[in-house]
Amino acid sequence: VDTAGHTPTARVATRSATQGRAHDSHKGQFGDVAIVGGATGMTGAALLAASAALHGGAGRVFVALLGDNAMTVDPTQPELMFRHAAHLDLSKMAVACGCGGGEAVRAELPRILSSAGSVVLDADALNVIAADTQLQSLLRARSQRGRPTVITPHPLEAARLLGATTQQVQSNRLDSARQLATQFACVSVLKGSGTIIAAPRAVPAINITGNARLATGGTGDVLAGLIAARLAAGMPSFEAATDAVFAHADAADRWPAGTALTAGALASALTSA
Ligand code: APR
Ligand code: MG
Repeated sequence: VDTAGHTPTARVATRSATQGRAHDSHKGQFGDVAIVGGATGMTGAALLAASAALHGGAGRVFVALLGDNAMTVDPTQPELMFRHAAHLDLSKMAVACGCGGGEAVRAELPRILSSAGSVVLDADALNVIAADTQLQSLLRARSQRGRPTVITPHPLEAARLLGATTQQVQSNRLDSARQLATQFACVSVLKGSGTIIAAPRAVPAINITGNARLATGGTGDVLAGLIAARLAAGMPSFEAATDAVFAHADAADRWPAGTALTAGALASALTSA
């Protein structure tokens, strides 16, 4: 009641309205995400990952595009901040790398692997690493320094990393996911129907949510951005991966009938942890 005796009309925010955030929260507590990717012709992959990170609750989202004529603002997502990768202090961020990065991602990987606070490696980042033993050593070395690392291959990317065929990976998904985690000393997310999350010395998880509507271009980029948001919020890497995989596919299970599931709309439907 104010000094004039009026009952205040201010609305009291409920826990659900604030997504469980304390009243005195500020954006620094939800962490910074950097998306490194988007080679020429693949800008959308990086923007989708960035959108997922924003909707997933990251405090600030930076985008380092690797293509020619890189954009400096996305009018549909003015929250995003575009920077050169070299101008970002990656040590204080969760970095999602790949996301339509093409071959251009190769030049960025040594610095990302050695200095990123936490990292999600997807798509082209994994294809480049699969063929480069020096980058593989840098990847493995992260675990000794306690740096959270998650790789998110689809079956073909997993096959390249393991030197196997896609059929071999698919006929033994659980062992393939475990082998990836052991070989690269990180959390592995083997995507597809029944995504598997594995980590060294941990019992793997098999995700129960999701459906074939996720089989549309860009949904993998959305997952990479969402895992990065979870890592930026301070979740341990195995929890960040399992929580994001569940939520990403659960959003697809809740999709309204008769409405097309697109990767962009999926990213907008995500919520923070
Ligand atoms: N059931 C459940 N989930 C599925 C299904 C399915 N039938 N099909 C796909 N998904 C989920 C996967 O688990 C994953 O989370 O959708 C997502 C698809 O991710 P990707 O395979 O990475 O596909 P996409 O995002 O379209 O990426 C395609 O990325 O790997 C690169 O070069 C590749 O250009 C290609 C691009
Ligand atoms: Mg992909």
